[in-house]
Amino acid sequence: SVYNCPVITLPKVHNRAGNITAVNNELELPFSVKRLYYLYDVPGGETRGGHAHYKLQQLIVAVSGSFDVILDDGTVKKTVHLNRPNYGLLVVPGIWRDLVNFSSGAVLLVLASESYDELDYIRDYNEFLEYAKK
Ligand code: TYD
Repeated sequence: SVYNCPVITLPKVHNRAGNITAVNNELELPFSVKRLYYLYDVPGGETRGGHAHYKLQQLIVAVSGSFDVILDDGTVKKTVHLNRPNYGLLVVPGIWRDLVNFSSGAVLLVLASESYDELDYIRDYNEFLEYAKK
């Protein structure tokens, strides 16, 4: 459910010349990263996401700028605002997500547990609702 999607506070190594955040498999993450990708140059007002996954887990980080993630488990919707590089939203399998309200210059980093596989996507909302009932 959306209640299994915490915002994880990532460690920050801070000094006067700036910050570093490191993310380790099985340590800050409850999975191992097989793939990372990033979304950028999203035009103002555009919406991304609009799908769920059967198996994939992911951590979503606003490495620059900000955006909102709307999580939906078929029963409850929850909006999470991300705007700092040292917070990551864990999205577990079976959750519909919409990505909205991108600031200009926003970069959305995804650490994913699986390689890209179109067969792992549920892109039809009614199909998702049927799947979520089970
Ligand atoms: P999608 O995951 O639907 O994007 P978003 O959720 O950000 O709106 O991916 C959009 C397209 O990008 C998809 O049709 C195929 C391509 N793609 C890849 O080739 N590899 C990847 O790892 C990802 C995430 C997407």
